Amino acid sequence: MVPYLSAHAEALAGDVSVPGDKSISHRALILGTLAVGETVISGLLEAEDVMATAAAMRALGADVARRDDGTWSVRGIGVGGLVEPEDVLDMGNSGTAARLIAGVLASHPITAILTGDASLRSRPMRRVTEPLGRIGARFTGRTGGTLPLAVVGTGEALPIEYEVPVPSAQVKSAVLLAGLNTRGQTRVIERTATRDHTERMLRHFGADIETTMRDDGSILVALDGYPELQAADLAVPADPSSAAFPLVAATVVPGSSVTVPGICMNPTRTGLLTTLQEMGADLRIENEREEGGEPVADVTAVAAPLSGVEVPPERAASMIDEYPVLAAAAAFATGDTVMRGIGELRVKESDRLAAAADGLQANGVTVETGEDWMVVHGTGGAVPGGGTVTTHFDHRIAMSFLVLGQAARAPVAIDDARAIDTSFPGFADLINGLGGRLAPRNSPAA
Ligand code: S3P
Repeated sequence: MVPYLSAHAEALAGDVSVPGDKSISHRALILGTLAVGETVISGLLEAEDVMATAAAMRALGADVARRDDGTWSVRGIGVGGLVEPEDVLDMGNSGTAARLIAGVLASHPITAILTGDASLRSRPMRRVTEPLGRIGARFTGRTGGTLPLAVVGTGEALPIEYEVPVPSAQVKSAVLLAGLNTRGQTRVIERTATRDHTERMLRHFGADIETTMRDDGSILVALDGYPELQAADLAVPADPSSAAFPLVAATVVPGSSVTVPGICMNPTRTGLLTTLQEMGADLRIENEREEGGEPVADVTAVAAPLSGVEVPPERAASMIDEYPVLAAAAAFATGDTVMRGIGELRVKESDRLAAAADGLQANGVTVETGEDWMVVHGTGGAVPGGGTVTTHFDHRIAMSFLVLGQAARAPVAIDDARAIDTSFPGFADLINGLGGRLAPRNSPAA
């Protein structure tokens, strides 16, 4: 355990680059592997989750290497070209890696075993094994359908039409990735739009993929099987889910102004920014442009008082990983912030609904929760702090409460900061570089 302490900061100021987008980084390595030729990726997130995917792609036959200039090279083997891995594939803490790679494996005639850390081994996998079973893959997992999981892929995958029962880009992507090495057209229907990085990147690599908005409001994604994916260079934009932490910190620490350049502004990812603006945050979105098939912009947050809002449930998918840091922001607001339709938070790296509520309560903030909702009673700016937060090895819980401590009256402690390296190495240095006060609990700086 590496306990950390977050103490009240003076104004935060400056420009900071946050690491590359995690979702796009996983997909870049996977699709680079399934393309023929060399894909060069700039801005790849070099964090534990993405390195698990890189290791898996190597084990499946790709040549994946970091180059001297900091870019990454993937020499792919083409759709259908995977080799059977010699050992178990360890996905670490990453649900995205486990579920997307299960999809890739499902339509290749090889056997592979997926496992992960204690958190990942407790997360639901039936949401992918159920549709992937329909295409002809076989799975043997533990009684609850959790990892470790043996995947026996098929060389004669059937194209399916699948309506995703819970809004999940991971499930959608698993089915689409399986559809690559499948004869005919694979069709996925979603009732709510989820992040569409897989679709955008497949298009970038030359796949025939079409997204149609249907009359009933649902979205149909149709992918033709057996494409010749061509290696194509990629630039990974800054991760909006990581940018959320310095932007919320700047919003709640009086006198702050922080700019994060090059943030991915894909509309399936910007729900937090919309919500913060509705709460009264002063966000300046500038230099909007397109890079590597994704919209990006520079975002400046200037400290501002916040008011509680009701977050519409249909926005949940576009800010699903940002609810813990929204809960931290809401603690400083005047009035209640109501979040509904967030049951999926219970099956993330931890039960984030419970972890966020417990952490706020430990720091003197009143919270009410139900199975799929949470109400944070804002303090009007005076969060007492002084509590210790159990992070359950969840990076977003850890960073959200380190942000809370920057503006709370008394320091906020977290029990363990190690999970931060799964998505945001250098987080504490980055916040401290802006004038923040984060330190290991037992260090002289704390
Ligand atoms: C992700 C999708 C989301 C998100 C996760 C990354 C992705 O999960 O929470 O951090 O890269 O597809 P779900 O699709 O399960 O909601």
